[in-house]
Amino acid sequence: MKETLPVHHRPQWKSHIGFLLAAIGSAIGLGNVWRFPYLCYENGGGAFLIPYFLALFLVGLPLMILEIGLGHKMRGSAPASYYEISKHWEWLGWWQVIFVMFGIVLYYSVVIAWCLNYLFFSFNLSWGENPNNFFFNKFLMVSKGPFNIGDIRTLILFALFVIWFLNWLIVFSGIEKGLERANKIFMPLLFILTAILVFWSLRLPGASSGLKVYLKPDFSQLKNPKVWIDAFSQIFFTLSLGFGIMIAYASYLPKKSQILKDSIAISFTNCFYSVFAGLGVFSVLGYMSHVTQKPLEEVVSKGAGLAFIAYPKAISLLPAFQNLFGVVFFAILVIAGLSSSVSILEAFTSAIIDKFQYKRKVVVSVLSILGFLGSVIFTTQAGIHWLEIVDHFLTTYGLLTAGFLECLLIGWIYKTHRLREHINHVSVFKLSKIWDFCIRVVCPLVLATLLFNSLVKEFKQPYGGYSILSLIILGRDWLIFTLFLALLFSFRPWRLRQSINKS
Ligand code: PFF
Repeated sequence: MKETLPVHHRPQWKSHIGFLLAAIGSAIGLGNVWRFPYLCYENGGGAFLIPYFLALFLVGLPLMILEIGLGHKMRGSAPASYYEISKHWEWLGWWQVIFVMFGIVLYYSVVIAWCLNYLFFSFNLSWGENPNNFFFNKFLMVSKGPFNIGDIRTLILFALFVIWFLNWLIVFSGIEKGLERANKIFMPLLFILTAILVFWSLRLPGASSGLKVYLKPDFSQLKNPKVWIDAFSQIFFTLSLGFGIMIAYASYLPKKSQILKDSIAISFTNCFYSVFAGLGVFSVLGYMSHVTQKPLEEVVSKGAGLAFIAYPKAISLLPAFQNLFGVVFFAILVIAGLSSSVSILEAFTSAIIDKFQYKRKVVVSVLSILGFLGSVIFTTQAGIHWLEIVDHFLTTYGLLTAGFLECLLIGWIYKTHRLREHINHVSVFKLSKIWDFCIRVVCPLVLATLLFNSLVKEFKQPYGGYSILSLIILGRDWLIFTLFLALLFSFRPWRLRQSINKS
């Protein structure tokens, strides 16, 4: 039997809406704006919504319910919650929060820093006639490969400092005064700015042709397995699942909480936001194709290419208020990014506090300094290479493996019915047994399939044309290193935690 430790005081969300907005803020991130619309366009337009919403119902929503239910029941971060289930699984919780903290957030904040730089570039359209050249050769000054580090780009470093300062300030100020207050400002602002951008874009000439390409359903694409793989992979990332974030956020909920209702609200708001933001993205691309008389296929792009090349190009072509349009667009990205990055910092912070009982202010300060220093490597001329490799390995293998194990742990070791009973005990809306089936069978099967598929692809062709050596050192070893750290943390003794759930 595990040892039982005395309970400690846990902070709480002051308002229900505060929790909802913070969780939605974590889910809505850069990916909603620059990844989802492109995926939709590439995978059958409106027809992609079928696998996407199916993925949401079959795996996204069930896992969201699991994470929120678990955090609420165990009243602890991911490592603490898993420890409550079995002390042999504590490492998994550490692994989740470590690979987001010492992986994803390090480069994610650098991308937010790029957006902040570009927000200021919008004032005088600094990217000039050739945004492509500007982005790669003047702004990033990209080196030949991941091992040609080159110099630190000072402008990026400066913006990165601002982002980490904000991350620090928000999480340092605590749940109620920091995360809740910040998200109560961020989220309404994000929705207003996005609405302005979308309605502005919809009125541009050529917008409708962009929308047609974005949403016109091509059902024949549904026969292609890639479409399904893309839909299911996007769901995990977009809902911030498998990182221990929702577990931490839910651990600050009051006893009586509407877990099912909240999970539905968070997941749907996130997915509808993606579809809505896509209207703006594709209207602008339609406008660009209209003005340049080029087919849309030639102007469309995703990720960094969309935000830092295609969009700036389109902004320069606008008939009026170009600067304002740029500021709004990049402000959207900065806000969406920040509300996600603080959630990562919080997931790790709460894990450390749970285990070692250190003061929040000390933990957050140390972590923010480490985070800032760790991010610096991505501000060098080799930054974008590192970013691509680390992102690929962490979000594919890390996320899928951790999610898979999480389902096995709750589904088969802890047993879903125990968590379902807890959720139904506290909420008005009741969860049916179909949920158990999704967690025990559907989610692990889907995650294992995605993992298998990625591995096969990896062996057929090394990712992104990078050398095997760079993939091994920056990708695989980075992942293994986080696993090693996780084991190290889980071997340390707990201070002052009481097992509150002995049902
Ligand atoms: N859900 C966010 C997005 O779609 O951009 C990304 C994200 C948030 C990733 C939080 C990782 C994370 F820990």
